[in-house]
Amino acid sequence: MPDFPAKHVFPQTAAVTPSGHLALGGCDVADLAAEYGTPLYIFDEQTLRERCQAFLREFQGRYPNTSVIYASKAFTNLALTRLLVEEGLGMDVSSGGEMAAAKAGGMLPVKVYFHGNNKSRKELGEGVAWGVGRFVIDNFHELGLLNQVAQEVGRTQDIMLRVSPNVDPHTHAYISTGTLDSKFGFPIGTGQAREAIRQALSCSYLRLVGLHCHIGSQVFETQPYQAAIRATLEFAAKMREEGLELREFSPGGGFGIPYTRNEHPPSTAQYADAITSSFNQGCQELGFGAPMLVIEPGRSIVGPAGVAVYTVGARKAIPGIRTYVSVDGGMGDNIRPALYQASYEAVVANRMDQPSAERVTIAGKFCESGDILVRDVDLPATEPGDLVALPATGAYCVPMSSNYNMAPRPAIVMVQNGVARLIRRRETYHDLMAEDVA
Ligand SMILES: Cc1ncc(COP(=O)(O)O)c(C=O)c1O
Repeated sequence: MPDFPAKHVFPQTAAVTPSGHLALGGCDVADLAAEYGTPLYIFDEQTLRERCQAFLREFQGRYPNTSVIYASKAFTNLALTRLLVEEGLGMDVSSGGEMAAAKAGGMLPVKVYFHGNNKSRKELGEGVAWGVGRFVIDNFHELGLLNQVAQEVGRTQDIMLRVSPNVDPHTHAYISTGTLDSKFGFPIGTGQAREAIRQALSCSYLRLVGLHCHIGSQVFETQPYQAAIRATLEFAAKMREEGLELREFSPGGGFGIPYTRNEHPPSTAQYADAITSSFNQGCQELGFGAPMLVIEPGRSIVGPAGVAVYTVGARKAIPGIRTYVSVDGGMGDNIRPALYQASYEAVVANRMDQPSAERVTIAGKFCESGDILVRDVDLPATEPGDLVALPATGAYCVPMSSNYNMAPRPAIVMVQNGVARLIRRRETYHDLMAEDVA
């Protein structure tokens, strides 16, 4: 099979068929588009499983007492949850809805970590009643509320505290979380984290088991993790005098993936090396024994496994300026380019054997000028009906999708060994109005 540019951004099974079509998981993408329609999101099962196994292997191989907890905000789906259960991962949820998906997919509650900066009383109550393993407490309001809720349910609830170590992960501001000016977590530098530990230890229905310090997402450097780990462990050492026992520690997730051909983030092994070595060293120097290390990859599990497929429609050429090629999806199913200038590669899935012939901008069909999926990409000449595929669309696309312009959300299929199975059906017009009351 011939190779194609940016192949490392596609799922592992990506290949080109003798007729010049993109194939994923042994399925011809043109056949999938014909059967399921477009826009279509395709997930490659082999890539998903390999990503899960890579995190388990690389982290547990270096630090056996590691738990891998998938951050389900990146993409939540029942078939995916079942796969995670089979692979032995837990799940990080940040809402009652994500928790319901974990439960419905067969995830054990003890393997669920409940995050979020404004969990409601209802969500806290549902989580405690179900037996959620850990609540990761983000603020003083939640600390008091959870203590009350746990008392009402009659349970002692394990918690971690999310602290903010004031480390800049050098990523987009919208996905940076560990700096001082962030809505997430108790800042260490202001003394609020210390106060949170005092209060947590005085809550009769809460048991503080450790600290959490997620710094951001799409973090391409390993050094910020090491800085955050060191700062948080040093803080934890000082908090011994308050009575803190560090049984668990989490630097969160945020591991980068390549979206475009020139991006080469650290490998899972390199992240694991950096994190486990500074964690081990910090624990030894500060006398912590071997607390459980909890890592929370989201994007890096599902992102590389997903490919979005669109059908080409209209074209607008502005001489000397730009040619827009419009497709049948856009910001409704993938808000990332409009939200934080995310870049993607694009290929013409039914012309993989043809050379690039023109530079175009791929526009979505939504009524916003900012609805551009890919700017200035070199593609073979396209005609209406051709299929444009965007790789690395498995994370933060479908979960952030909307019904803007009353667009039905896309269908999703999972592919493996030449077989495709629908894991979410396309929404219908009826679905769009199902909740309206007239
Ligand atoms: C607490 C926490 N853990 C894990 C993640 C997952 O990040 P990513 O999908 O970049 O791995 C996030 C994402 O925002 C998060 O807030």
